[in-house]
Amino acid sequence: MNDQHRMPQYPEPYWRDGVNLPSFDSLNGDQNVDVAIIGAGISGITTAYLLSKEGLKVAIVDAGKIFNGTTGHTTAKITAQHDLIYDELIQHVGVEKAKQYYYSNTEAIQFIQQTVNEKGIDCDFSTEDAFLYGTTQASKTKLEKEWNAYQKLGIKGETKSSIPFQAGAVSALVMKDQAQFHPIKYLLPMIEEITAAGGLIFENTTAIDVQTGAKPIVITRDGFRVTCNFVVSCSHFPFYDRLSFYFTRMHAERSYVIGVETDQQYPGGMYLSVDNPTRSLRSTPYRGGKLILIGGESHKTGQGINTMRHYEALQEWGGNVLGIKSFPYRWSTQDLVTLDKIPYIGEISSKEENIFVATGYKKWGMTSSTVAARLISDQIMRRQNAYKDLYTPSRFIADPSVKNFLIQNADVASHLISGKIEMAPKKVEELETDEGSVVKVSGKRAGAYKDLSGKLHIVDTTCSHLGCECEWNSGDRTWDCPCHGSRYTFDGDVIEGPAERPLKKLNLD
Ligand SMILES: Cc1cc2nc3c(=O)[nH]c(=O)nc-3n(C[C@H](O)[C@H](O)[C@H](O)COP(=O)(O)OP(=O)(O)OC[C@H]3O[C@@H](n4cnc5c(N)ncnc54)[C@H](O)[C@@H]3O)c2cc1C
Ligand code: FES
Repeated sequence: MNDQHRMPQYPEPYWRDGVNLPSFDSLNGDQNVDVAIIGAGISGITTAYLLSKEGLKVAIVDAGKIFNGTTGHTTAKITAQHDLIYDELIQHVGVEKAKQYYYSNTEAIQFIQQTVNEKGIDCDFSTEDAFLYGTTQASKTKLEKEWNAYQKLGIKGETKSSIPFQAGAVSALVMKDQAQFHPIKYLLPMIEEITAAGGLIFENTTAIDVQTGAKPIVITRDGFRVTCNFVVSCSHFPFYDRLSFYFTRMHAERSYVIGVETDQQYPGGMYLSVDNPTRSLRSTPYRGGKLILIGGESHKTGQGINTMRHYEALQEWGGNVLGIKSFPYRWSTQDLVTLDKIPYIGEISSKEENIFVATGYKKWGMTSSTVAARLISDQIMRRQNAYKDLYTPSRFIADPSVKNFLIQNADVASHLISGKIEMAPKKVEELETDEGSVVKVSGKRAGAYKDLSGKLHIVDTTCSHLGCECEWNSGDRTWDCPCHGSRYTFDGDVIEGPAERPLKKLNLD
């Protein structure tokens, strides 16, 4: 294998590479604004952009750097073809609501295209057909059912018996005229407009609580306060729960992406297999040619095999199907899946009219975030929106939610117990450089990582959220919780909630 084919040592998403990102100070005093928006990903920025255009003063607060959450690690297909969903939606919420789901996402694509055209945004936007494909008889049957659903809902599509590359497809379902783009290049001009309108952006500022009331106050970890009329939680996992137990109503799923140049010419289009393990494909302009993004290998966070194997599986598949010429990028990220697979967008609880949430996009956040930004803006501006009831987080649809609810929570319970009693597989002194593992320290389960300089970083692996045991993620060098998807650096700092507090640091003696 020559060096170009070798997997990059550290994960880095293509989208953030070479893009001139502005940087912002952290909040170091109290603020008073119309709307406080927590999270600077596509949800937060699009919402802030729309509200700024309405003349409202916004403040965006992000715990890290802008676009360093899931938005900076996505594959950025802009489509209403959200995997196999429409047949299931018809079964569970009926034809009218399934239609609303399709319309709301299709309008989101139109909104994005219109914004790109009106502002002349150079973000590699292109119209592409989206393909779902199957390689087995069982998946062919699923695609036939989905095609029936398309016809009932009036979705523009067609069936095919193959796709234009050798992935073993026996059937495919096409949704016409979908799109793809570079998500960060699309969002940067919005940031310029938000700040030009007097909007404030604060990085490295973690929101930890809200004092509720007619004028809610967002409290930050450093003790500063943002007083406002409305709060919008766009923090991926909601930073504030108000006893709504979002962690019992969603689970986190991680997936992996590799960015490669291929021997074969890419045929155009965006692809997703409906088999297991899934495979996702799209291309993006790269150095006068194309970078092909190959994704897949989803699993619940903290429940994967050795995470490097997921990248290797994508590399092997890409090599067989398209041939790999160079392998410059790899990255992974996670998204949240709700009980009934419909995002939670709207008032965070039935008791709060001025605190909103947008989450649970099931890896389809490019359109869902746009649906959310438009819906929440309408609610704040006291305008009607036809999709309010479909997305309201207060819904509780008995089927399939109850079943999923029980499965998710049984899963959590089993991890709470099994993580505690399993044997630690390694001794600290056995660790190689750049290796992490569960170990035993003073007779108790702990986690250790030996960095490139040989320094050991040891943490108590008990998740600070509700006490499940975190597992080592070798691909990203993080500790990931299998219960509700919290993630921590190898030093124990929180990367992703619901956990708010770091893992306890331990010493060897
Ligand atoms: C592998 C993968 C591929 C995907 N591909 C696609 C695709 O092709 N098409 C598609 O439509 N969708 C895709 N998605 C989904 C999509 O990327 C996400 O749904 C979307 O990016 C979520 O955006 P967001 O703004 O809601 O969250 P994020 O981008 O995660 O932003 C949340 C922000 O909130 C901040 N934050 C968190 N907690 C706090 C706090 N307490 N205080 C302050 N700030 C906080 C974080 O730092 C972060 O910046 C994919 C997802 C995955 C996992
Ligand atoms: S995220 Fe809930 S216990 Fe870890």
